[in-house]
Amino acid sequence: MAKRKILIQLDTDNKASVFDGVVAVDAGVDHLFQYANVRAEDVRDLVHGAMYTRGPHDLHNTAIFVGGSNVVHGEAVAAAARDTLSDPFRVSIMLDSNGANSTAAAAVLCAQQHIQINDSISIVLAGTGPVGQRVCRILANLGGKVFVGSRSVERSQETIDQLARANVDPSRLIPLRSEDPELLAAALYRANAVIACGAAGVKLMSAQQLEFGKSLQVAIDLNAVSPAGIEGIGIMDKGVQRGTRADYGALGVGGLKMKIHKASVAALFESNHRFLDCQEMLTIGSDILAAQQSV
Ligand SMILES: NC(=O)c1ccc[n+]([C@@H]2O[C@H](COP(=O)([O-])OP(=O)(O)OC[C@H]3O[C@@H](n4cnc5c(N)ncnc54)[C@H](OP(=O)(O)O)[C@@H]3O)[C@@H](O)[C@H]2O)c1
Repeated sequence: MAKRKILIQLDTDNKASVFDGVVAVDAGVDHLFQYANVRAEDVRDLVHGAMYTRGPHDLHNTAIFVGGSNVVHGEAVAAAARDTLSDPFRVSIMLDSNGANSTAAAAVLCAQQHIQINDSISIVLAGTGPVGQRVCRILANLGGKVFVGSRSVERSQETIDQLARANVDPSRLIPLRSEDPELLAAALYRANAVIACGAAGVKLMSAQQLEFGKSLQVAIDLNAVSPAGIEGIGIMDKGVQRGTRADYGALGVGGLKMKIHKASVAALFESNHRFLDCQEMLTIGSDILAAQQSV
């Protein structure tokens, strides 16, 4: 008899996310084991329970999802889970704390509908946060040049150093103190894309500043809470053409983000040795778009 699909949800928050649980069930998971308040030191015994109950040939029916609102804790939990696994007793793992990976992948894929990332110049506003960092990483890994925006040039540089330690080419990343109107205007003048990844309800750029972006082909704002992160971009915008620029708001990106999240959970059960981070979710999202376009 075929084994049932079990997803072990390791959540770093006090209560495991209902949202992530619902997506898991919708992605075809038969049984969801939810653990809350998980820290790296708790992981070994939980993962041993997953590794040693089913034989190696059935382990693709067991997988681990790491979630919760704190991305730093999530990264530590996912790393501890990966370090616990050993051949042949492996299960696949997905890291999507705070939706940061699936959101960043979806945002870059939206941008890619309008620009070739390779050799493009992008500004990532609030490139220091969990979503922003991943957007910077994906863009740089695809061969783009990226202004890493922050209110503080030190935080921007720290993010660049952190990404360099994760093997991202630092020569592709340029620090930007985006609160300085002149520096922002100079960056906008050269940029093909701007992606705003600021905290909810924080305005990062005025409509007037956006007008400096004469070469902009796409502008994306991931903030869903009023006021908009980029003034003038509507939350529902999905490739809305304004002059030479296509605009996306948080919900305009959110549909693809949800598809990537769900497809990534499903992909966990295709084999027992995947580790799904932002780069892998980009590939999954790319396949979703290619399938949509071939219909
Ligand atoms: N559409 C979706 O499906 C989806 C999914 C997940 C998240 N999101 C949204 O994506 C955005 C980014 O998420 P996140 O978790 O990375 O955000 P976050 O950690 O809350 O904030 C990201 C960055 O915003 C900047 N920031 C914070 N407070 C600020 C303020 N008062 N003024 C100016 N800048 C401020 C900070 O950068 P500096 O300190 O370096 O300036 C911070 O690193 C959020 O708006 C979130 O709601 C959307």
